Amino acid sequence: MIEILPIFTNSPLRNYSYLVYSNRTGEAYCIDPFDPKQILNHAQKLGVKIKGILNTHEHGDHTQGNLELKEETKAIVYGHKDAKHKIPGMDQVLKEGDIVFSVEEESLAVWDTPGHTFSHLSFVRKNPNTILGIFSGDTLFNAGVGNCFRGGDPNVLYETISSRFETLPDSCLLYPGHDYWDNNLKFAEHVDPENDFRNLFKSSLKPFQISEMGTEKNLNPFFRRNTNSVKDRLTELKETYSNDRSVFLTLRKLRDHW
Ligand SMILES: [Fe+2]
Repeated sequence: MIEILPIFTNSPLRNYSYLVYSNRTGEAYCIDPFDPKQILNHAQKLGVKIKGILNTHEHGDHTQGNLELKEETKAIVYGHKDAKHKIPGMDQVLKEGDIVFSVEEESLAVWDTPGHTFSHLSFVRKNPNTILGIFSGDTLFNAGVGNCFRGGDPNVLYETISSRFETLPDSCLLYPGHDYWDNNLKFAEHVDPENDFRNLFKSSLKPFQISEMGTEKNLNPFFRRNTNSVKDRLTELKETYSNDRSVFLTLRKLRDHW
């Protein structure tokens, strides 16, 4: 099977890098390298060789470790075709449906997930029956979604979230590009006050908790945009909305200025 090691980087941006690897073949792929030395240490301890570097998107905090890690490992650097000239050391293009690597029945496949930027990929770990996990970069976070300030579009993010991420099975694990639990839960309290599930969840939240999509569907105000709790609160805040998309866009706007 495919194994996953989340690597939290102790920076103000709270980035995550991930090692996705197989104990059977000894091969590993690094998603969004932030601190090459930290990643190499982990790979060494695991006894795996990094064959590829996978960038979810072109922003510097997701690609800053590319060149040093490539130099040390001779790994191939992959990214979205439209980010070719923005991703340091990029060698190969990945597109929707590509399989990055497979171990027995499991594989790591590529989704094209625009919104945070127009050249944003997500990676899904799957078997023939289901999707087991998703590396969502800056598209979906725990209890929140990505911003669209630097090269994105909230309308496109809405399409990606509603047509792709909301179709994921409840058991699918979420591996985001940053640990934003604290801030996102505070914003959730602000726009979705009547959520007993969240209150209960908060009391058992562990540092750097990896959550399932089923949990996220009950926590994330962007997923709960059809609830009375969210809609009544928007009305209270004197925000106008007319349909599903406009609730999402209003939440995104509020989060931008929050
Ligand atoms: Fe980003």
